[in-house]
Amino acid sequence: MKKKNKQDVINYSHNERIDENYSIDSTVVIYTGRTEDFMTTLPEGGINLIITSPPYNVGKEYEVKTSIEKYFEQQEPIINTLCKLLADNGSLCWQVGNFVDKSEVFPLDMYYYYLFKNKGLKLRNRIIWHFGHGLHASKRFSGRYETLLWFTKSDNYTFNLDSVRVPSKYPGKRNWKSGDDYGKPSGNPMGKNPSDVWEFMHHEWETGIWDIPNCKANHPEKTIHPCQFPIELVERCVLAFTNKGEIVFDPFGGVGSTVVAALKQDRKGIMVDKENTYTEIAKERVKQLRNGTLNFRPIGTEVYKPTGKEKVSQVPEEWNDLPMIYTKK
Ligand SMILES: C[S@@+](CC[C@H](N)C(=O)[O-])C[C@H]1O[C@@H](n2cnc3c(N)ncnc32)[C@H](O)[C@@H]1O
Repeated sequence: MKKKNKQDVINYSHNERIDENYSIDSTVVIYTGRTEDFMTTLPEGGINLIITSPPYNVGKEYEVKTSIEKYFEQQEPIINTLCKLLADNGSLCWQVGNFVDKSEVFPLDMYYYYLFKNKGLKLRNRIIWHFGHGLHASKRFSGRYETLLWFTKSDNYTFNLDSVRVPSKYPGKRNWKSGDDYGKPSGNPMGKNPSDVWEFMHHEWETGIWDIPNCKANHPEKTIHPCQFPIELVERCVLAFTNKGEIVFDPFGGVGSTVVAALKQDRKGIMVDKENTYTEIAKERVKQLRNGTLNFRPIGTEVYKPTGKEKVSQVPEEWNDLPMIYTKK
């Protein structure tokens, strides 16, 4: 009989406990309160992956909009502590969009880059999270991406590329340069590197695009939170930057998408959020994951591409006599 190694027997989603405070044997921690307070209870150098989407200072229901200077004054001490918590071979992923004031754009990742760089972290990728829908701007081009900064603490870091490869468009491509490999397949049977442009469902649930016939009325993961992570986005980072059994921490955890992604992949998940309503939903989602009732888009699901036959893809009759860009089919 095959001897079980340690990794085969870990399955944190089967563990019954959800701790409200951190202890060394915790596998899931969901803390309600301020991240500034909670972080003091975590072990320095003990976190393998920190991944979050912080408040963006855009006036969402859980934040008070302030000047960009004040916003970064509040964020800097948090970042200093997070850098201390990160393991030497660990990664930190910081996902942000833009702060916009009177149509002037302040790209938050540019400001954040220097805060992390000044703490000695090294940027490995500035990942573009592209999405197809969102608000329509009238005084500038409409924004259709946010960024995810992936930093490591040192040059010795975990990067499991094979765990996150995606199918290649042309797996049948062959080497054409003369040499030993001439005529052999040029790709990788495990798929290709997913690149630094990622496409996951995002604002679709806010813009009603899901009213397309044959599609679900809502994204399956949607809760009351106004800006939730898709679980699959976090999952890709968890798989690539950590190994089974390691610790993933979200300092602004919302409704627990990070914790769920960590548990799904047999890692330990820790989060904090100041809003009790969100942490209660996070606990519920963990329970649903454990009893098999949690709705989620499986990692690797393709983003829906309209066929052109949907009613919303058709040019409206009312435009027939107007100058328009479309050719009537
Ligand atoms: C952009 S949301 C994160 C959503 C999360 N990624 C998810 O999937 O649910 C930012 C979260 O930070 C929380 N927050 C803001 N300031 C905080 C603080 N000082 N301490 C703890 N949580 C805070 C907010 O309540 C909000 O839920």
